[in-house]
Parts: sequence; structure tokens; C-alpha cells
Amino acid sequence: MAQRLRQRRGLVAGGGWDAAHALLAAAAARRDDPVTTPPARPRVGVDLGTASCVLVVLDRDDDGEDRPVWVASAGSGALHDGVVVDFARAVATVRGLRERAQEALGVELPRAATAYPPCIPVADARACTYVCEAAGFDEVALVDEVSAAQRTLGVTDGVLVDVGGGSTGVGVFRGGELVRLDDRPGGGHHLDLVLAGALGIGLEDAERVKRERPAEALPILTPGLHRIAESVRAMLEPLEEPADATDLPLHLAGGALMLPLAGDVLATYLHRTVVTHPHALLITPLGIARSAP
Ligand SMILES: Nc1ncnc2c1ncn2[C@@H]1O[C@H](COP(=O)(O)OP(=O)(O)OP(=O)(O)O)[C@@H](O)[C@H]1O
Ligand SMILES: [Mg+2]
Repeated sequence: MAQRLRQRRGLVAGGGWDAAHALLAAAAARRDDPVTTPPARPRVGVDLGTASCVLVVLDRDDDGEDRPVWVASAGSGALHDGVVVDFARAVATVRGLRERAQEALGVELPRAATAYPPCIPVADARACTYVCEAAGFDEVALVDEVSAAQRTLGVTDGVLVDVGGGSTGVGVFRGGELVRLDDRPGGGHHLDLVLAGALGIGLEDAERVKRERPAEALPILTPGLHRIAESVRAMLEPLEEPADATDLPLHLAGGALMLPLAGDVLATYLHRTVVTHPHALLITPLGIARSAP
């Protein structure tokens, strides 16, 4: 009954995503309980986010399935909207995460993949590679964040909406191919600014209220969520086929819409089907690791 009601309102959770959701749950579990036996063939993903830098190490189990063995994150403050603004700090953050992972797993991690947000200049995208090289990785593959998220979820026909700390990216997939990509400022940090202003508190306290008392935060943040929805609508303006996305469901990735009921707010505002996924914060980092050499 509840599921039918949610579907009528345009919001569908789960259903057909069991493998991806199991991978996300396994990655989330590794945060508190890292594997300490050396992986046979480690693949490393480095997500240089605005809010935090996440390092994921995957191994393959005997039946060829990806198995997360290490997941850790650190706030760096070294990026804004996906652009590296403090190179030395970004390098120190990645190096620290890499060293911790190497020590815990008992292996060298010489290779990694990293990702850049859609639509940034080539030079800024390359900076993400240089950060990883300066942090000690010899070989670094570079992918775009939206394609990385798709590698985790396996969306073939749908819109991936990644709302991170600083920006909102959209990627339209048809037949598994990326046919349209866009990105605009606006994400969880902007929600914190709204909450801090409304409650007369600092940004750190606002972040805490958002996570720990979401029912209190939601009414204050609803106009901010509408702004994010409006930005998604603008990025998905109807176009000629195949880039048009009018008929496709929206899949939410990224941390900012992990606020409970945020997906419903978007679904209601946009009159579209919105699919939420658990541990949305880890969708992009996991997909980056899956892209690693
Ligand atoms: N449980 C939660 N409820 C609400 N918001 C959350 C929750 N967990 C994380 N966030 C928000 O998610 C944002 C971080 O998400 P994410 O890690 O996807 O961003 P990022 O990759 O660092 O940023 P970007 O992709 O914009 O560079 C932060 O603004 C944080 O406040
Ligand atoms: Mg991100």
C-alpha cells in the first residue's frame, strides 16, 4: 500500500536494483569494519568531492563480483565545485587516505581512478589526475563523475542526478549510452547556508541539525530543494531525441539528497518518477573504483 502510494506520487525506491544496493551496503559496512587481509587485485577509486574526499578499494571475489575492502573519507576543503583550489591540501588528503589504506590492507596501491565533475574545463579535470599522481599513485585513470555513478547503478535508460556538496550534475542515459551531460552550482552546502541563516547558527551546527534532526530541517530546506529541482529541470529542458529525457526516471546519487523525504520533494515538484538509492553518497566513489586500472 505504502509502495503504491509512493509510486503514485512519482517516487519509487528499490526494485530491480538489488545487486547495486548490495554493493552499496557492503561499501557502507566497510567504513566501520575494514577488511584487513590483502586484496589479490585491488582497484582504487578517489573521489575528490567538494564536501569530502572518499577513497574506495575494491577486490574481486571468486565468482568475479566486486567486493569493497576499504572505504574511508576525509574532509579537505581543497575543492570548490569540483575544481581543485588548494592543490597541496588536496594532495595531503589523498596521500593520507592512501597511506592508511596501504597500511591496513598490507599492499601497495600503485594505481587509481579519479573523476571530474561534468562540464569543467579540461585543465581543471586534469588537475584531479595531478593530485592523485602527487599523492603517490603511478598510474591514474580519469573518468567523469556521472559515468562513474552509472557504473555503480547500471542505469541503462534514465537520468542520473548527482547532488553533492557544491554542485548538481545530470547525465541522461539511453541504451546505456551517455547522451547528455550538464552541471550547475548548488548542493548540500547551499542547504547548510539556508539552515544556518534560518536558525541563526553556524555552518557546522547547521550540518549537524540537517543530519541529526532532518524532520526539523526539511520544512526550512524545502525551498532550497525546490531550487535544486528547478536547476535539474533547467538542465533537462526538452530537446530532440535521443537527448530528450522527458520520459525517463531520475536516479538520485550524491549526499545532499540523503535528507529523508528529499526525493519525495523533488518528485512532487517536478511531477517525475524519482528513484532513490541507499548510501547515495557512495554511488560515485564506488563507480570510480570500478573504473580503475
Ligand atoms: N544524511 C545526510 N542528510 C543530508 N545531507 C547529507 C547527509 N549525508 C551527507 N549529506 C550532505 O551531502 C553533501 C556531500 O555529498 P557528496 O559527498 O556527494 O558531495 P561531494 O562529492 O563532496 O561534492 P561535489 O560532488 O559537489 O563536489 C554534503 O553537503 C552533506 O551535507
Ligand atoms: Mg561528488
